[in-house]
Amino acid sequence: MSDICVIGDTGLGSGIAAGLSAKFIKIDNRVFPDGELAPRILVEKVEDVKNKNVIAVFQKGESESINNYVLRTFLTLSTLNRYEAGRLVAVFPYFAYARQDNEFRLGEPVSCGIVAKIFEDVGVTDFITVTSHVHRITGITKWFPNIKAYDISGITSLAEFVKNNVKAAEDFIVFAPDGEGLPWAKEMADIIGSKQASALEKERDVNTGEISQKLVEDVDVRGKNILIVDDIVSTGKTIARAANMLRKQKGAKKVAFAYVHPVHSPGALELMRKEFPPFIVTTDTIETSGKGIEVVSVAKVISTKIKEIL
Ligand code: R5P
Repeated sequence: MSDICVIGDTGLGSGIAAGLSAKFIKIDNRVFPDGELAPRILVEKVEDVKNKNVIAVFQKGESESINNYVLRTFLTLSTLNRYEAGRLVAVFPYFAYARQDNEFRLGEPVSCGIVAKIFEDVGVTDFITVTSHVHRITGITKWFPNIKAYDISGITSLAEFVKNNVKAAEDFIVFAPDGEGLPWAKEMADIIGSKQASALEKERDVNTGEISQKLVEDVDVRGKNILIVDDIVSTGKTIARAANMLRKQKGAKKVAFAYVHPVHSPGALELMRKEFPPFIVTTDTIETSGKGIEVVSVAKVISTKIKEIL
């Protein structure tokens, strides 16, 4: 597609460019010694992007802070807007700040809305993310009233991997660690051919962040293999505790993990490995190099979506 160019800084961007057969222009993410960011798009001339369909892809680095990721995204998009990109499609595969989609306690910001508004303010025409954490309300378009916004599934990529690489995948019972994740568990179960998808009940103390989980449905997991599916693994506590409960209290045989966004705060992988999962699979919405975990790319589902909308 010659009228399209893809701007990006990492593997995911070049994978999407390849999927679209489009020119790839790199971003040099410069950081000044005091921490200020100065991302530079390595264009040869303004006309490389002026009046073109520009796809700008932002993948959070493995050890990069969320705030760095968010700010360099906005700075880069503002340059593309100033250079008068025609259609400006922002690919923000990990929708940072989406979890704070409400004022849970008095005095808190509704960060999800603020971040979404900045995308509109810097001239984005289309916003694409992957399995965002905004399922609680009416979906992603609520946050982007003036532009087009798409929330595409990362579960399909995970499920295809499981279906094609895990022996007897259809025998796994699929669990979400909480009720909100049930649609993801069902999507996984449908694709891998599992007959059962269920969710644990999770309670989180809003002050301490501590969680507790229990089985609410009458599902017999004794001696069975389980696959826990979630959108995010940050500290790893939600998924590891669910596995521990299913194994130790309920007699499950083995518990594997599949999740879309490897946020991986320090210690998360270690916590998961303590549960001896037969496999851990995640995607490249965020860069990750964790040993012994499978990483599947969402480049294909994203480039398919872009072909559909352009
Ligand atoms: C929560 O609602 C999410 O779906 C994840 O379960 C949560 O973000 C995981 O966080 P952590 O890994 O820190 O327990």
